[in-house]
Amino acid sequence: MSDPFRTRVFSGIQPSGGLTLGNYLGALQRFVTTQDDGTETIYCLVDLHAITIWQDPAKLRHATRELAAGFIAAGIDPQRSILFNQSQVPAHAELAWIFNCVARMGWLSRMTQFKDKAGKNRENASVGLFAYPALMAADILAYHATHVPVGEDQKQHLELTRDIAIKFNHDYEVEFFPVVEPVIEGAATRVMSLRDGTKKMSKSDPSDMSRINLTDDADAISNKIRKARTDPEPLPDTLDALTERAEARNLVNIYAGLAGCSPADVLAQFAGQGFGTFKPALADLAVARLAPINTEMTRLMQDVDEIDRILADGAARARAIAAPILAQTHEIVGLVQRREV
Ligand code: TRP
Repeated sequence: MSDPFRTRVFSGIQPSGGLTLGNYLGALQRFVTTQDDGTETIYCLVDLHAITIWQDPAKLRHATRELAAGFIAAGIDPQRSILFNQSQVPAHAELAWIFNCVARMGWLSRMTQFKDKAGKNRENASVGLFAYPALMAADILAYHATHVPVGEDQKQHLELTRDIAIKFNHDYEVEFFPVVEPVIEGAATRVMSLRDGTKKMSKSDPSDMSRINLTDDADAISNKIRKARTDPEPLPDTLDALTERAEARNLVNIYAGLAGCSPADVLAQFAGQGFGTFKPALADLAVARLAPINTEMTRLMQDVDEIDRILADGAARARAIAAPILAQTHEIVGLVQRREV
């Protein structure tokens, strides 16, 4: 069978507090480019995934709205893209149940994210945390999405999504779910900690100086870049010479990501110059790029009703796509339902 599925991009981000420059350069900026290319794009705030680990309800609500504001401020147009929070579309949880019955214990037991998040005390991890990847497969497959842009750390979950689609199609002798293509972010867009160039920039790092938050104002951004860890050498003229200089390489990558050019272009411009010159240039660029996003997020967060309205509208459009796919799934599996006439 030739490819019966048309290109539809789906991705999700957990609203578990705080968007960083890493989310922006690694995910949001790409999401916007894909949307602007005219591709059909569905972006989901995965609140049901967030609660696989206990969340303070008020903080979860705030983080969900703030994440929505971040998407919009970064350039996601809620008319052209579908932007919504997962829990408003019941098809996700419903399809996840069916996938819980397709996925095998052995498959889920091998998931490294589960092992990392559950830690030593696995007996005490929630069942939801264990089943997390089946819900993620449902997020994607409820829309027959074909392409899923994610970070390197989600590769294993996408392979599981493929395995679930293949096993479902095989077990029920159908060609129903697409086998999705992972679109893994390149190393160049992976933003590392400003304190340790070997660790990913993370909202959960105890040091706020390790990251730039999209909620940081101009002073905070400049200050963090000025204090970022580096080395005493000037910038080299080849990328190879940065292999052993994780912090320097990270700042060059950040500059390239923000300027929309390649790291080689950045070196062509700054080779031979020290961080005394490069850091202020980077700080100016970061402030110029991020301040408008910050301002727009702040403005949007003053109108929570408007954000909720946008999310509800996105959820209604998402439901319209997912509902018939879920109904067909029920039909395939043999779950009785009254046919629509
Ligand atoms: N597990 C993803 C992460 O932690 C978030 C996610 C949930 C997701 N559902 C998804 C990503 C579907 C892509 C597609 O980053």
